[in-house]
Amino acid sequence: MTAIAFSQSVLDTLKDKVVVLTGGAQGVGAATVQLAYDAGAHVYFGDWAADKGKEVEAAVRASSSNGTATFLQVDVREYASQLALFDAAFEKHGRVDVAISCAAVAEPPGYFEPEALSLEAIRTEPQELKSRLDINLTSVLLFSRMALAYIKASPPTDFSRSIVLVSSIAGITEAPGLFAYSTAKHGVIGLMRALRPVAPLRYGVRVNAICPWATDTQLLAGVKGRWVKENLPLNQPADVAAMILQCAADKTLNGKSVFVAGGKGYDTEEGYDKTQPQWMGEQLAEEWNRGQRVLGLGDGWTD
Ligand SMILES: NC(=O)c1ccc[n+]([C@@H]2O[C@H](COP(=O)([O-])OP(=O)(O)OC[C@H]3O[C@@H](n4cnc5c(N)ncnc54)[C@H](O)[C@@H]3O)[C@@H](O)[C@H]2O)c1
Repeated sequence: MTAIAFSQSVLDTLKDKVVVLTGGAQGVGAATVQLAYDAGAHVYFGDWAADKGKEVEAAVRASSSNGTATFLQVDVREYASQLALFDAAFEKHGRVDVAISCAAVAEPPGYFEPEALSLEAIRTEPQELKSRLDINLTSVLLFSRMALAYIKASPPTDFSRSIVLVSSIAGITEAPGLFAYSTAKHGVIGLMRALRPVAPLRYGVRVNAICPWATDTQLLAGVKGRWVKENLPLNQPADVAAMILQCAADKTLNGKSVFVAGGKGYDTEEGYDKTQPQWMGEQLAEEWNRGQRVLGLGDGWTD
């Protein structure tokens, strides 16, 4: 695995840049808001938790910086709500440089337990399950599309602009018990992979995904005790924030899935690609690569 090194000088290039982020009211998102603001960026962050979002806004503004931090109440399930976040940034600064999709919710309990799987129980549509997929996946697709449009409409700059999507280790590995969560997070990796050959060429936008392992936020609360007892690697929110902003600002990074474990980041895509002939077989890998060249940038899929 290739280690992704954190560089303060790369982070400093975020000075005066316009950053849009969802899920900033606590945890990893709040840490990312703070770090980007400290670097001098203008950060527009949304979250549906209005009180916590306002508290983060006030706490961040209390430290001195050339940047700004602006909170808006946003429910990522609502198209207009995400759009309003981009609008606020674009109207004030005339551009968007970095877009980070971080908002997510945990697995809703019980939907795959035996009692929820009777022929009678499944007659009721599981709205909560669908709603969580909306938050963790559909909203990320729509956010990414908006980000491309706002960045495309922004005046040219020397800064290498980018989208960062927060997935999870559950987006690249087996994750027992995380049925809806893992579905969504694998989807986020699929979205990153679909965008990475196209977005830099067509829109000058790099796209990367972050795949945290256990991180000390409320999302981990249910298993944290057992985790710590076993002395397993644990990230702090600021560790993950550092990797998010490294991907946001480092112009050499595109198409990575950065596994963050014990405070350090590692790209998993390079190894996945490099070992393709081993897990696909040499002949199929060669044919698959020829197929990819035939498909090019993917024009022609639509009906
Ligand atoms: N904590 C971990 O161990 C861990 C591991 C892997 C991936 N992640 C990912 O990291 C990201 C940040 O998670 P975290 O650990 O900081 O969790 P968190 O719960 O502390 O933060 C998630 C934020 O998203 C917001 N949010 C949820 N639904 C929303 C909606 N509909 N509209 C707007 N905002 C909404 C929440 O209010 C919260 O502020 C998530 O994408 C999560 O899946 C976390």
